[in-house]
Amino acid sequence: MPTIDQVRDVLATINDPELHRSIVELGMVKGIEVAAPQVTVDLALTIPGCPLKSFFQEVLPAKISASFPEITSVTVNLGAMTDEERKALVGGVRSQTPTSFATPESRTTVLAIGSGKGGVGKSTVTANLAAALAKRGHSVGLLDADIWGFSSSRMVGTSARPTVVDERLIIPVEAYGFKMISMGNLVEDDRPIVMRGPMLHKILQNFLTDVHWEEPDYLLIDMPPGTGDISLSLSQFVPGCSIVLITTPQQAAEKVAERAGHMAGKVGMKVAGVIENMAYAICEHCGERTHPFGTGGGHELADTFGAPLLGQIPLDPPMGELADHGKPSVIVSPESPSGRAFEEVTDAVIKVIPPRPKSRARKSLPIIMSPSAAPVRTG
Ligand SMILES: Nc1ncnc2c1ncn2[C@@H]1O[C@H](COP(=O)(O)OP(=O)(O)OP(=O)(O)O)[C@@H](O)[C@H]1O
Ligand SMILES: [Mg+2]
Repeated sequence: MPTIDQVRDVLATINDPELHRSIVELGMVKGIEVAAPQVTVDLALTIPGCPLKSFFQEVLPAKISASFPEITSVTVNLGAMTDEERKALVGGVRSQTPTSFATPESRTTVLAIGSGKGGVGKSTVTANLAAALAKRGHSVGLLDADIWGFSSSRMVGTSARPTVVDERLIIPVEAYGFKMISMGNLVEDDRPIVMRGPMLHKILQNFLTDVHWEEPDYLLIDMPPGTGDISLSLSQFVPGCSIVLITTPQQAAEKVAERAGHMAGKVGMKVAGVIENMAYAICEHCGERTHPFGTGGGHELADTFGAPLLGQIPLDPPMGELADHGKPSVIVSPESPSGRAFEEVTDAVIKVIPPRPKSRARKSLPIIMSPSAAPVRTG
């Protein structure tokens, strides 16, 4: 007959699917009773009505019976953590401060995608870049810093609500292999949000601090149009972070992106590269390239900042249509002109702004073992 410790060792190998930590380490296992052929486990969910109930009901019995052939019946009693237990858990799991992405130990490359000008494709580029980086095996977070004009949730087709373990611990939603948070995941779609500058600052801070990003390789920030508040806030939280400027080939767009680049420089951000969107159109009959928005904006902007032109994305109306319905072209049509262009841009981004080395020692995080996490009953 297995001992309680042996059963606990098996449970310790099971991770909470959202927090990615052992359920024993998180203090979720409240009691283990062994009376062969029966094992009973008392498990406290992080929040009542946790959507992962059925996961635990399936996985715990399967793991225990697979480990101990003499155990043929496993009962999992589900309860919920007390407020105090949840606070202890949050304190242990939360590893970020607003500025922790800026420390030398950070494993995350923070990359803002901005342009100053509205409607040039910042959100489209951000969503495709996130999906393409994730496809290549990088861990990626997408933070929609367009608090008022959020669109990232629509671009990746999920208005799912994040799991809020506590207001200081929010599990981001997942799409196409990356994690994301957007106001679109938090509010009803068409409800206007009236906010003053300080509130935007606070929300950006919350998104950086309270969302359980888990040190992704890349954290992409979809910037709002304009050069104002959010750039300033971001530069305060993540001093020296990089920005990729998006422009179309037109002079008018290029000049606005230039102002955004200078503003970024003023607040200590570094222009890491330029992407020219809607750079050309391809005739679907003869394949000829035309330039409905002129030429030159991307090169000019890149020259201004001595930064590389990371790529040119064609005007691709079906791609725009797909993007607006939550389907990034690198996922649904990687062979389309825009899909291929995004793949090339992604290669260029990785080359110019490589992920930080993974071998760097992770910050050691406190292990939570509240007294009540110890087994309380014996069989
Ligand atoms: N290369 C492209 N070909 C066709 N349509 C595109 C292309 N890039 C973007 N679009 C479309 O243009 C519109 C604006 O794009 P997007 O929302 O990405 O711009 P934005 O710069 O984020 O805008 P905002 O400043 O409002 O945040 C969207 O409908 C999008 O689908
Ligand atoms: Mg946008």
